[in-house]
Amino acid sequence: MNQLDFKGRHAVVTGGATGLGYAIAGRLIASGGSVTLWDRDLPAAERAALALGATAQAVQVDVSQHASVQAAVAATLQRSPRIDALVNSAGITGPNTKVWEYPVDAWREVVDVNLNGLFYCCREVVPVMRNAGYGRIVNIASVAGKDGNPNASAYSASKAAVMALTKSLGKELADTGVRVNCVTPAAVKTAIFDQMSEEHIRFMLSKIPMGRFGTPEEVAALVGWLCTEECSFSTGAVFDLSGGRSTY
Ligand SMILES: NC(=O)c1ccc[n+]([C@@H]2O[C@H](COP(=O)([O-])OP(=O)(O)OC[C@H]3O[C@@H](n4cnc5c(N)ncnc54)[C@H](O)[C@@H]3O)[C@@H](O)[C@H]2O)c1
Repeated sequence: MNQLDFKGRHAVVTGGATGLGYAIAGRLIASGGSVTLWDRDLPAAERAALALGATAQAVQVDVSQHASVQAAVAATLQRSPRIDALVNSAGITGPNTKVWEYPVDAWREVVDVNLNGLFYCCREVVPVMRNAGYGRIVNIASVAGKDGNPNASAYSASKAAVMALTKSLGKELADTGVRVNCVTPAAVKTAIFDQMSEEHIRFMLSKIPMGRFGTPEEVAALVGWLCTEECSFSTGAVFDLSGGRSTY
């Protein structure tokens, strides 16, 4: 594992109780920083913080609720005066079904968490970073947002929107010390697989030229670097993590 420099820095990781968010939090702590795990599952986030050690703490938030995000920012700033990095990892897949059969409520929930929730988090944390004159935001999009996976329309559409939001916000902040980027992983085996059909998981694996799933540590390696000061001339950019699947 390469040594990243996140010394003295503090990150908020949404969806940090498990999966990719948890691995990213671990990498940032191993790089010398501290982390606040934001998750709607508070007991899981507290267990995760305990496992990560004294430089991790947990805050309950439902990112799909604007007021909940505002409260989480206030709670975080009470304990840590700065937010140097924001990693937006909270996300859900929604059901694997065709557009014409897609339950309307499920569609709304996916967009509320994956897109609107990420917008609320950026909206509330950016002023903190602008005031400090420094920040790194990393949004976890998906290769589904580039390709448009069949039977995952809400998920794919929400992740395409995350890429566009990243590009807009990156440009808006380009003349500040805040950098905004996103990553587009192909399938990585985490608890999120429990939300998908076996057929869909087989489909995703079949699309990866390396013939294997990614690992949370591989995602954390790139996201960790994007959270460091050294990531200085990239903003509004989309970074690939797809085992060769993506062609752009
Ligand atoms: N694992 C993959 O194959 C994969 C591939 C590409 C992109 N992604 C994206 O990476 C991110 C993390 O995925 P993961 O595999 O770690 O999933 P996961 O299910 O393991 O973890 C997601 C975390 O987000 C939290 N969460 C969900 N809704 C929330 C809400 N409304 N408010 C606050 N927290 C909430 C969950 O409690 C959980 O701790 C997601 O955005 C996902 O879409 C995952």
